[in-house]
Amino acid sequence: MRDTAATTPRTAALVAAAIGKRFGDTSVLRGIDLTVAPGEIVALLGPSGCGKTTLLRIAAGLLSASAGRMEIAGQTVADGTVHTLPPEARGIGMVFQDYALWPHLSVLDNVAFPLRMRGDRRAARTARARAALARVGLDHLADRAPGTLSGGQQQRVALARAIVAEPPLVLFDEPLSNLDRELRESLALEMSTLLRELGLSAIYVTHDQTEAFTVADRVAIMIGGEIAQIDAPEAIFADPASVDVAQFLNIGALIDGEVAAREFRGTSAPVSVRSPLSNGYQGRATLLIPRTAVRAAADGPLRARVRRSQFQGDRYLLHLDLGAGGHGLVCPADAPAAQGSEIALALQDDRLRVFAAG
Ligand SMILES: Nc1ncnc2c1ncn2[C@@H]1O[C@H](COP(=O)(O)OP(=O)(O)O)[C@@H](O)[C@H]1O
Ligand SMILES: [Mg+2]
Repeated sequence: MRDTAATTPRTAALVAAAIGKRFGDTSVLRGIDLTVAPGEIVALLGPSGCGKTTLLRIAAGLLSASAGRMEIAGQTVADGTVHTLPPEARGIGMVFQDYALWPHLSVLDNVAFPLRMRGDRRAARTARARAALARVGLDHLADRAPGTLSGGQQQRVALARAIVAEPPLVLFDEPLSNLDRELRESLALEMSTLLRELGLSAIYVTHDQTEAFTVADRVAIMIGGEIAQIDAPEAIFADPASVDVAQFLNIGALIDGEVAAREFRGTSAPVSVRSPLSNGYQGRATLLIPRTAVRAAADGPLRARVRRSQFQGDRYLLHLDLGAGGHGLVCPADAPAAQGSEIALALQDDRLRVFAAG
């Protein structure tokens, strides 16, 4: 799918056009088109091995592309297989999973490092590094060695170092994967707030959908070396572009069947609904029943068996089986239901999606 970001009069932070990458015979990236607007945060979300890190490494200049063109802040950095701008000249900020701090330098000198590389004078770089540390709430730890800090603090130092020179683009590669869940959620929110306050542009790679939805303006779903869909998180959830996207995001139950005479009939579960496909398609298809389209209702048309009823404090989650195909569906409910019992479900028709096969 082509990236449809509105064109802006200001120079885009990044433009990738038809970027491809092969390792030997294996094609790892195919036809990547991506535009990051100034001040925009785009998350690259996809399963392990789909090519996220490879794309970031090409943007950083650590790896050459096999095809396509890339521009950063209006400068061509890659054209075909040619690196036209070396990594150190791109002025990009980077934050990795493993922090990558220099152990022999103080926290302050780590943060000041990019300023030293570009030749700022000592007084100026100390002042700026202190200001960046203050922004991440760590000015009191300036003289410590990185190894004496917690994981969350080390990642804040890495963030301060990545933003200190106010780069045209900041690249994040799974920056929070080494931290525990609670810290991950609060730090993701903190990072995106800080990037927005500073008006910085960023590409944020993660395989965690909560994290992607927390930090990003737009999310690019990457599957098998291609961008399958790019949009605001709400738009992707409401209208996934393919079965693969719906499956990766675990939006709901996917049921195989046939469309004939504008009616979808499930072959893998006894479901029958009016097909929302508008083009008169007939043939094999897959129905998506999003979790948000289902509710327990005594007079509902769909039958499901209760596998488990899970109390969540403010509500119950019913884990349901639809038919014999082992189709699971999780649906919120106000009341519990007995394990093994059959319940009726109502569907909100306008949320159903049918994907034509092939
Ligand atoms: N230097 C390399 N040589 C050969 N294959 C590689 C190399 N780097 C990555 N790959 C392969 O490219 C694919 C994408 O890797 P990567 O970009 O690291 O995925 P992700 O970051 O999404 O998990 C994987 O199948 C990986 O094994
Ligand atoms: Mg990776």
